[in-house]
Amino acid sequence: MIHYKTSTEVELMRDSARLVSKTLAEVAKVLRPGVTTLELDKLIAEFIRDNDAIPSFLNYHGYPFSSCISVNDVVVHGFPNEQPLREGDIISVDIGVIKKGWHGDHAYTFAIGDPGPAVMQLIRVTKESLYKGIEKAVAGGRVGDIAYAIQEHTEKKYGYGVVRELVGHGLGKSLHEEPQVPNYGRRGTGAKLKEGPVLAIEPMINLGKREVYTESDGWTVRTNDHKASVHFEHDVCVRKGQADILSDYSIIEAEEILNPHLFTVQAAPMPS
Ligand code: MF3
Ligand code: CO
Repeated sequence: MIHYKTSTEVELMRDSARLVSKTLAEVAKVLRPGVTTLELDKLIAEFIRDNDAIPSFLNYHGYPFSSCISVNDVVVHGFPNEQPLREGDIISVDIGVIKKGWHGDHAYTFAIGDPGPAVMQLIRVTKESLYKGIEKAVAGGRVGDIAYAIQEHTEKKYGYGVVRELVGHGLGKSLHEEPQVPNYGRRGTGAKLKEGPVLAIEPMINLGKREVYTESDGWTVRTNDHKASVHFEHDVCVRKGQADILSDYSIIEAEEILNPHLFTVQAAPMPS
């Protein structure tokens, strides 16, 4: 069942989504070589609790941390650990909160130092593909239109691997609601979009082949070929004409640009 949110509920969800954005901005401030992802996880949990919310990933189906931090060839669901980050690493930080009963869940990939032009292009194109998907999150369309737009921009245009095993999802009082939102598919297929659902759209795109495997910890998803993978995620409310993006990358990007340790790319902006 798809849950259609009232405008009051959408505003509460905007608060939750923006708390995730603010938390990601805190991460953007401190990222540099030498920091460990476990230190980041602690900072994330503390910031969320200081803002009257709880980290939703902690204990979710037994997940043991407050964030998923996925470095280089880790696609998603990486465990924070004591390994210091190094120059040239890329790091996807995925954070979920529950505030006033409503979930926020979004993610951003940062480059610490220069990971090289091929990986910087992967970051740029994956971010662009997220916005191409969001353009299709409008009433009257279908879930397959979002999926097709992401796949078209990444796999067809650049030959990247689109991960099949993991998908985006509806979001609300639960972390995972209907519908599933794959990053691959056909136009005009899948659930019909009406105004009101909130979707977590989250392309997971590999520099090399699309195949992935899960490590023996039961969570960490890695590329089979050990080439880099990038993950961006926004929470958006389906509307007529144009989707309402509840999470806010501008808060994160403002800190990313100020941090001399981070490499940045300019993705194509949303047409307005
Ligand atoms: N953002 C991810 C998702 O949408 C993370 C959830 S997995 C968790 O599925 F266990 F860490 F919560
Ligand atoms: Co998600």
